[in-house]
Amino acid sequence: TAPLRLGIAGLGTVGIGLVKIVQNNPDLLETRSGRKITISAVSARSKDKDRGADLSGYAWEDNAVDLAQRDDVDVYVELMGGHEGPAKNSIEAAISAGKDVVTANKALLAIHGQALAESAEEAGKLIRFEAAVAGGIPVVKALTEGLSGNVINRVMGVMNGSCNYILTRMQDAGLTYQEVFDEANALGYLEADPQLDVGGIDAGHKLALLASIAYGTQVDFDAVELEGIGSVTIEDINQAADMGYRIKLLGVAQLTGRGLEQRMSPCLVPASSPLGQLQGGTNMVVLEGDAVEQVVLRGPGAGEGPTASAVIADIMDLARGVRISTFGQPAKYLVKARAARAAVS
Ligand code: NAP
Ligand code: HSE
Repeated sequence: TAPLRLGIAGLGTVGIGLVKIVQNNPDLLETRSGRKITISAVSARSKDKDRGADLSGYAWEDNAVDLAQRDDVDVYVELMGGHEGPAKNSIEAAISAGKDVVTANKALLAIHGQALAESAEEAGKLIRFEAAVAGGIPVVKALTEGLSGNVINRVMGVMNGSCNYILTRMQDAGLTYQEVFDEANALGYLEADPQLDVGGIDAGHKLALLASIAYGTQVDFDAVELEGIGSVTIEDINQAADMGYRIKLLGVAQLTGRGLEQRMSPCLVPASSPLGQLQGGTNMVVLEGDAVEQVVLRGPGAGEGPTASAVIADIMDLARGVRISTFGQPAKYLVKARAARAAVS
């Protein structure tokens, strides 16, 4: 069988994590997926940066759109980030050129995912995005595959590691929000625009994507009720602790008689519960289905290895010929989120 040839745009944390997995474990990837997985070409802003990986065997493209259209690329892997510009243009170019796409870009998908998935499907192609939600936790696969026969009653979880780090550190060290925010920012834990994290926007993007899969609805990020953690005080945290609770930036998506409710906001959770015990940058997603009852997934929501682990899993699915639609069903069949209603007896 011919190898599956990748074009990787973005050689930062996640891109280099992916390069390392492809370079370090070629036999394992081939044995498990049935095809050799190779890298044809790469792209980033700066060609000359030392990235801690040997890229000399790969063609270089200055422009991600050119990379996405190369004849020696079967799967275009977008790991640059940003919800407009090169990320969006290059994914569109890849689809037009007949490539499948793998991305970790939740910001892009939460806004343009529906349109991109529809145009990919029209071209007989797929966009896969396991890494976009909760990093290394295989939650997209859990919904689209493992739980695909369930009516999902609720999706809930902590989906932003930076916020969980800030809230747990405030509690453990007795520091103010601003002190921990500055510390996290200096350690490089926050997005380039920290408001994406602390404003709940990044976690809201992830919740909107999961809700779409869970309820067969079009991604509707604008309908997510968002409240960030910026106004949580150390007094709030201490009072909650006195009552046996922790404050977590919690996302909840559920269908009600009024439609799809999506909320991402600081919530009280019992200190002794799995969510209450969640420390540092860890994520947790709780999935409730009519048949399975409850599944709890916990793991690293970010970082080089964990996020690349999710990217390679999507690539291996494509190598195996697994053609599960982007949102677990064809995008053209997704219903409008604001019209969706649970059957209320
Ligand atoms: P990063 O470390 O900032 O790396 C971004 C890479 O993209 C860099 O190599 C950069 O080039 C390149 N790039 C940026 N803008 C570009 C442009 N206009 N043209 C060409 N190349 C461009 O980002 P990251 O943390 O790896 O994140 C990548 C994606 O994964 C994002 O969508 C992010 O939201 C998502 N994600 C990240 C994590 C995580 O833990 N980091 C977890 C889940 C999802 P230079 O290196 O030359 O500047
Ligand atoms: N800023 C995100 C987080 C990165 O802290 O969870 C992973 O999506």
